[in-house]
Order: sequence, then C-alpha cells, then structure tokens
Amino acid sequence: RTIALIGAPTDVGASVRGAGMGPDALRVAGLADALRAHRFTVVDRGNLAGPPNPGLAPEGGLRHLQEVVTWNRSVFDAVDAALGQGEFPLLMGGDHCLAIGSISAVAWHCRRQGKQLRVIWLDAHTDVNTEAISPSGNIHGMPVACLLGHGPASLVGWSGERAALEPQDIDFIGIRSVDRDEKQAIRQLGLQVYDMRHIDEHGMRNTMTEALHDIGDNTHLHVSFDLDCLDPMDAPGVGTGVRGGPTYREIQLCMEMIADTGRMGSLDVVEINPALDVRNRTAELAVEFVQSLFGASTLAR
Ligand code: ARG
Ligand code: MN
Ligand code: MN
Ligand code: MN
Repeated sequence: RTIALIGAPTDVGASVRGAGMGPDALRVAGLADALRAHRFTVVDRGNLAGPPNPGLAPEGGLRHLQEVVTWNRSVFDAVDAALGQGEFPLLMGGDHCLAIGSISAVAWHCRRQGKQLRVIWLDAHTDVNTEAISPSGNIHGMPVACLLGHGPASLVGWSGERAALEPQDIDFIGIRSVDRDEKQAIRQLGLQVYDMRHIDEHGMRNTMTEALHDIGDNTHLHVSFDLDCLDPMDAPGVGTGVRGGPTYREIQLCMEMIADTGRMGSLDVVEINPALDVRNRTAELAVEFVQSLFGASTLAR
C-alpha cells in the first residue's frame, strides 16, 4: 500500500500563527523514512498552494472564511485523488480546519464504495463550534460541526450529502476543553466524547475497546490526530495546548489498538506549531505515534 503525504501549510483556521510550518516540521522529523522503515511505499506529494493568512478579525463569527474554503478545496481534491488511485492519504497540516476537506473527500469515496466510514478524533477539543456559538471565530474549532452538516453553507455538504458524518460515526478521545455552548451541542447531537475523566476512570484500554467496538470488515477508519491531544509537557509545539492530557504511554496504546483493527484508511496529522516548539520535539513525537498507527510495535518485526 502506498502512503501519499499531502502537505497543507496553512494556519488560516487559527488565531495563533505557526501551524502552517507543520508539514516541513514532519518532513524534517523524518516521517517518510520512518514509514519506509516499516516497508510502506511513501510518496511525498509536496505542499498544496493556497492563500496567505490575512490576519483579520472574524466576520459573521468566522475568521478567514474564504481562505479556509480555498485551502479545504485543495485538500479535498488531493485526498480524493489519492483515494482514487488506491493510495492512503496522510494529510500533514496545517490547522484542524483542514479536516473538513480531508474527511469530506473520504466520506465521498466511502459512499461510492459502499464502505462504512468511522472517525476517531484525537484532540483536547471537540471542535464542534459553529459561527453562532464559537467564542473565537476560529474555524479550526468548527470542523466537526461542518462535517455533521452545521456551519456556513460554503463549508457544508462537500461529501455529496448535507452531512459527511452522522453523530454515531465519530468518537472523541482525550477531550478536556469544551466551550460553554459547545457542551450543549454535544448533548443535542448525542456525540460520543471520551473525555479525560473517562480515560482516568476506565483507562485507555477500555476506552479504546469501547470506541472501536463497531469497526467491521467493511469499515474505513479515518483518524484525525490533533497534536494538542497530548499533554503540552510532551508536545509543547501547539497553538491551543491544554494541560492534563493523556500520557505518552496512553497515546501509544491508543495508536496500537487502532493499528490492530487493520482498518485505518486515512489520517490527518494537524496543529503542529514549530514556532512554539522546542527543537522539533512535537513533530518527532508525532512521527513516533504515526509509526504506531501503522503497526510498529516493540516486538513485531
Ligand atoms: N474551542 C476553541 C475555539 O473554538 C479552541 C479550538 C481549538 N481547536 C483546535 N483544532 N486546536 O476557538
Ligand atoms: Mn485541539
Ligand atoms: Mn461508538
Ligand atoms: Mn482540533
């Protein structure tokens, strides 16, 4: 199986600048060779092009909507092209708004192939704000809402249906920061959120067993990995870090259990901010965890 690395160097969905350097941080950390060491064929498709970050205030509750649309359109096309060629698309962000284009393309592809799409969202945040409730206007806090069919018209419906995902198709792991009105949205939508308290009480093993219980032979599993899921002590290179994240060991187990399903078909690695990092530590950590997602383990080959 060929893994296609797709760089989307932008931070238009955030208000903290720097995530646009994420793709090169992952390259410098050796992402391609790390995967080749596990006998994958890796092609680096380079970076997508798109508009610069204008650094403006939100309008109508949305910061940089037009730029976010343009970047996501490129991401959609690149992910769609990779899937169309039978490749595994690995999106290197960029901020988390890019999951709109990435997951919409995956959903479109799953629908045509009659596959069941499931998403695991690894994050400190649920990113289910809309322009009506977001406290920041940052669209990287809104991708899940857009994928569920709630958000500005220009970011909704890209998969061919109003909603790329149904609430039962997505599980959240590592959550510890949810905005006030976002909490209500989670309840109304009936989203499955495994917050840090759940992980504390049940452990990562039981949490992932539960989250992955409905993965079957016909499932396409998409993993959306926001590096701020980790504790900022381990991963300082993120723009919206929140203390109290899962430990290194817990995330390793989480990744290994996802790998064990054998059903991961696409991946986003987002929100690495080299401007805030310490000697590229966060990108290096991301590379380690991505290797685990692709089946690396201590004792197997
Ligand atoms: N909930 C906050 C907001 O809407 C933070 C979102 C952070 N999202 C992220 N992908 N890092 O602004
Ligand atoms: Mn986050
Ligand atoms: Mn579930
Ligand atoms: Mn996120």
